[in-house]
Amino acid sequence: MLTLFTESFFWMVINVTALFFFLCTILFSYSRLVYVDVDNDIAVSSYDELYSCGVKTVPLDNGSTRTWIFLVDTENCRIPNVDPFDTSIKHLLNLHSKPYRCDDRKLVTYIQGNTLYLNQTKQSKHLSFCRFKAIYRNGNTFEFGEESQAFNRSIEIKDEFIKVMCYNFSRSVMVENYHLHFIMKYPKTKESIYNSKQSNDIKNNTTINHLIKTGKTLNVLSNQNGRFEIKDHLNVLLVMIDSTSRINSLRYLPKTRKYLIDTLEATEMLGYNKLADNTMVNMVPFLTGDYYENQPCLKSKHGVDNCSFIWQNYSQSGYLTHFGEDWPRIGTFHYSLKGFKRQPTDYDDRPFHLANEKGSRLMMETCFHGRSSSETLYWRIYDLAYNLRNKHYFSLSILSRMSHDFLEGVKNLDNLSLNTLKKLYENNLLNKTFLAFFGDHGMRIGKVRMTFIGQLEERLPMMFIYIPEWFKTKYSSLFNNLITNSRQLTTHF
Ligand SMILES: *[C@@H]1O[C@H](CO)[C@@H](O)[C@H](O)[C@H]1NC(C)=O
Ligand SMILES: *[C@@H]1O[C@H](CO)[C@@H](O)[C@H](O)[C@H]1NC(C)=O
Ligand SMILES: *[C@@H]1O[C@H](CO)[C@@H](O)[C@H](O)[C@H]1NC(C)=O
Ligand SMILES: *[C@@H]1O[C@H](CO)[C@@H](O)[C@H](O)[C@H]1NC(C)=O
Ligand SMILES: *[C@@H]1O[C@H](CO)[C@@H](O)[C@H](O)[C@H]1NC(C)=O
Ligand SMILES: *[C@@H]1O[C@H](CO)[C@@H](O)[C@H](O)[C@H]1NC(C)=O
Ligand SMILES: *[C@@H]1O[C@H](CO)[C@@H](O)[C@H](O)[C@H]1NC(C)=O
Ligand SMILES: *[C@@H]1O[C@H](CO)[C@@H](O)[C@H](O)[C@H]1NC(C)=O
Ligand SMILES: *[C@@H]1O[C@H](CO)[C@@H](O)[C@H](O)[C@H]1NC(C)=O
Ligand SMILES: *[C@@H]1O[C@H](CO)[C@@H](O)[C@H](O)[C@H]1NC(C)=O
Repeated sequence: MLTLFTESFFWMVINVTALFFFLCTILFSYSRLVYVDVDNDIAVSSYDELYSCGVKTVPLDNGSTRTWIFLVDTENCRIPNVDPFDTSIKHLLNLHSKPYRCDDRKLVTYIQGNTLYLNQTKQSKHLSFCRFKAIYRNGNTFEFGEESQAFNRSIEIKDEFIKVMCYNFSRSVMVENYHLHFIMKYPKTKESIYNSKQSNDIKNNTTINHLIKTGKTLNVLSNQNGRFEIKDHLNVLLVMIDSTSRINSLRYLPKTRKYLIDTLEATEMLGYNKLADNTMVNMVPFLTGDYYENQPCLKSKHGVDNCSFIWQNYSQSGYLTHFGEDWPRIGTFHYSLKGFKRQPTDYDDRPFHLANEKGSRLMMETCFHGRSSSETLYWRIYDLAYNLRNKHYFSLSILSRMSHDFLEGVKNLDNLSLNTLKKLYENNLLNKTFLAFFGDHGMRIGKVRMTFIGQLEERLPMMFIYIPEWFKTKYSSLFNNLITNSRQLTTHF
């Protein structure tokens, strides 16, 4: 991620451009879209002006005197700015889908601090008492602990994940609730950023500081044992919305986009391109800095534990780390790989989500025991950001359930995303935080893929980068690089 700030990124862009030149020539140049084979890239049947790919290009900034026909307009790559509602695609869009609703009548318990309460206003007269069980990690799956003593009003909890069972007067289970509970953990390494002698040396190394100020951090950022030589250690908060392109976010995430752009003044990476087909092969480069194909450790039948993930580097620098995915059965490292034998991060939500969704029959279920898994994950993000506000953390959340299968699904995340970002910002929890709100790729399935815009958006995930205002001023040259890169072809690494 940090490469997005550096000048070295330009060099990378040039290399990557060579690789993607092929893709670009197919996709972005001289194609009057005539027919499309779903399994192949767009077939070019005749040469024409770039503008007439069968779709109109639109100005990016409405009201601005400068109209952008191209989002990216560089020597080797041009990405047209298309209308997300273009007539070539509009009939394939579901613009009036009903929002999902979770029946929360059975959500009768809640956690505050270290106490689990029975919500008195919701309590049915048939409810006699409740008990809970801890949920533990057991390799790639989970197990339950012992059943707690019974309680009627509240009970103290020490576990991170719990399942609550409430019984009626003939001792039958009436409801099951599942909760995540914040537990303070401590960085694994003693050599953390708080006390490292080396990082002090780096802090007052005027040479390095000068380089950072002038943006000439080419080598400086990557040497010194992989530590970041920026004085201010930002938290890293990554929110990935599966299968969400920039183009689709224009259709279905209008409120979140408006907030990111107008209030948070986040930078949108307009030429952000995926590297390979699905989630795993795109998230691997994002998290490891190399393609899936180049990493035998990922193919081990024992799991992916031996690979080196970026959160480990943060962990070595004293950060607490979090990884959460709301659809664990198709988890990034579990769907086609063997998962993690050991817990990968300090906070790892997998056992919770597995237990929570167990027994749901529908693949496409969105609600579990009174709450959508997306709501739960957003709740978790806020809870961690709040409780770790005086620490350093790296958090990666992957929301798949709502957005994976239908273009309009992500509409269900607009209110949730907006409300979470708003709450984080208004409670001053983003002042020390680097936030990326992004997709891994666009929609890979369905009829839209048969259109030019559909193929374009499949390859161009959404990517918003928020950095605190003071950081932009203090490291203005890095920020300027980011702005420049926002209109270049960029990728997950
Ligand atoms: C763009 O601006 C024009 C003229 O001001 C206005 O009519 C139109 O509704 C605007 N479109 C959007 C998408 O805001
Ligand atoms: C989002 O919130 C608005 C207003 O609060 C509401 O009208 C709308 O139905 C909500 N959308 C969804 C998908 O929940
Ligand atoms: C308790 O239930 C009431 C009624 O549904 C609800 O309005 C309230 O938010 C709940 N309280 C908590 C803390 O969840
Ligand atoms: C809960 O309340 C019911 C009725 O008031 C009572 O019969 C039961 O013993 C109580 N259970 C516990 C664990 O306090
Ligand atoms: C408790 O629930 C079971 C299963 O739903 C039901 O058969 C039983 O009648 C209930 N008992 C009482 C006292 O409500
Ligand atoms: C470097 O910084 C540390 C802590 O900020 C300070 O204690 C130390 O005196 C500084 N060293 C030099 C050479 O400025
Ligand atoms: C400061 O960092 C530069 C670049 O890594 C290094 O060459 C130089 O020796 C360092 N100076 C001090 C005083 O540590
Ligand atoms: C992260 O740590 C690994 C192993 O120590 C190292 O090989 C890699 O270069 C580091 N990555 C970054 C971006 O610092
Ligand atoms: C990791 O590497 C060690 C040493 O090479 C090996 O024994 C172990 O089986 C590997 N673990 C996995 C999960 O591949
Ligand atoms: C955000 O942090 C900066 C730098 O630490 C500080 O100057 C600023 O006052 C903070 N802003 C708020 C709103 O806390």
